[in-house]
Amino acid sequence: MKVQIDMGAAAGGDTAGLDLEELLATRLLVQGNSGSGKSHLLRRLLEQSAPWVQQVVVDPEGDFVTLADRFGHVVVDAQRAEPELTRIAGRIRQHRVSVILNLEGLDVEQQMRAAAAFLGGLFDADRDHWYPVLVVVDEAQLFAPAAAGDVSDDARKLSLGAMTNLMCRGRKRGLAGVIATQRLAKLAKNVAAEASNFLMGRTFLDIDMARAADLLGMDRRQSEMFRDLARGHFVALGPALSRRPLPVTIGAVETSARSTSPKLTPLPEAPVDARDLIFTPGPEEAAAPLRRPPPPPPMPTAEIMAQLARSRTPALEPAPTEPQAPVDEAAREAGIDRALREILDDRDGAFRSDAVLYQDFLVRCRIRRVPGEALSLSAFRRRLAVARAGVRDEHAGSDRWQTALGLSESLPDDLQGVFLLVARAAVAHEPCPSDAALARAYGTHSPRRARRLLAYFEERGLVVLRNDLRGHRIAAFPDLDCETAAGDADAPESWQAAE
Ligand SMILES: Nc1ncnc2c1ncn2[C@@H]1O[C@H](COP(=O)(O)OP(=O)(O)OP(=O)(O)O)[C@@H](O)[C@H]1O
Ligand SMILES: [Mg+2]
Repeated sequence: MKVQIDMGAAAGGDTAGLDLEELLATRLLVQGNSGSGKSHLLRRLLEQSAPWVQQVVVDPEGDFVTLADRFGHVVVDAQRAEPELTRIAGRIRQHRVSVILNLEGLDVEQQMRAAAAFLGGLFDADRDHWYPVLVVVDEAQLFAPAAAGDVSDDARKLSLGAMTNLMCRGRKRGLAGVIATQRLAKLAKNVAAEASNFLMGRTFLDIDMARAADLLGMDRRQSEMFRDLARGHFVALGPALSRRPLPVTIGAVETSARSTSPKLTPLPEAPVDARDLIFTPGPEEAAAPLRRPPPPPPMPTAEIMAQLARSRTPALEPAPTEPQAPVDEAAREAGIDRALREILDDRDGAFRSDAVLYQDFLVRCRIRRVPGEALSLSAFRRRLAVARAGVRDEHAGSDRWQTALGLSESLPDDLQGVFLLVARAAVAHEPCPSDAALARAYGTHSPRRARRLLAYFEERGLVVLRNDLRGHRIAAFPDLDCETAAGDADAPESWQAAE
């Protein structure tokens, strides 16, 4: 039976069709930056295919529960014991009921464990119940992350295993994975690689674009088209969609998402006693059940390294009952600064990943006997970004620099260093760094990428770029109320000049 799902309009005015039976055999990957319209697209797919196929949605934000009223999906609240979720999943396959697994309100580790238990139940269903099911996973990078994060190894293995089973071995059991992600580079490669159909939305970062090009078998230049896509516009490719990359515009949906893009709304008139309103508990709060306590956080790498270092030199350790000597903060700071400087002075260091540099840093701290706890990876990243920006002492304590540090935190980790480099030039009113200098701060040899980063900061409203009469670049920071001096964007980078 051939069922064509209507996803919206294709280029040229035709209907953008999706062959449902083919989709069941060949799976789908949707990728696009936040706000590109992935969840809307999944909703369109779910609504259009609801009469034809059983559906299971793994929903981290509780966005899709609104399908229940209109299409009769049962909402399964994930706040239950894992074996129970596995048993419920088995019954879902037996009775062919469409459901939303609502993971809202759980922390990331609990979400991973719950999704793993649930997907495991779908996968291990009795052979008699292997009917076709669309298994839609929004924010799939949460459940199949490309790299270890802050969750325990155990939770990550469980959830990654369940997602790998879904995408790699699910087809025979009737499970058809449809996964969506904001960042391809953050999604485990083996999970992404099993989809044969793609809907690619607006993508900004090079690393995601490169992964998309690889997956789609396009050359990098062709994949540039993902950069300028508007919200709701995707490029479709795959046996269930189109044999050639086909621009499509996703059509309207019948149900609405619970969360929508923020809209400015006038503030309420100031109430009589605002303090009273927020500090006095309402009557229903007293009776509200307390949430399950979160599991203990995994031990940070820094702590493990510190423990290892301690266990090597037991004779030098003070007896546990003796009071610990206070850490000499000045010596600690000087030691950390020195280790950071050594790393920065290493010319090749700019092109190594932060994780590799972090290991190098920890070893240097141990060799120098830097007192106190080791820095965590995230603290190290920030210190490195700040050190790379190289702000001078007279500016380091200034309000402007503190604001710049605050602004940088709203950016992804890997972009903070570049942002701070330009912000530093503005705070000190020095020439805007050249593309080559920005590229080095980003850990790349490509000046073109550096320019795109500046364009990204501008798009986020963090900087305004302009050229002076000689064509030299000036970056103004509206939040900092200052701007760089004019700098030649094409100047070749001199290693010494960046010191
Ligand atoms: N094709 C479309 N037509 C009309 N509105 C759309 C379309 N696509 C998306 N939108 C609207 O744009 C907003 C953002 O879309 P959506 O929530 O789907 O983005 P997203 O890619 O899932 O983002 P995130 O990764 O942050 O979850 C929503 O308010 C949605 O209703
Ligand atoms: Mg979404």
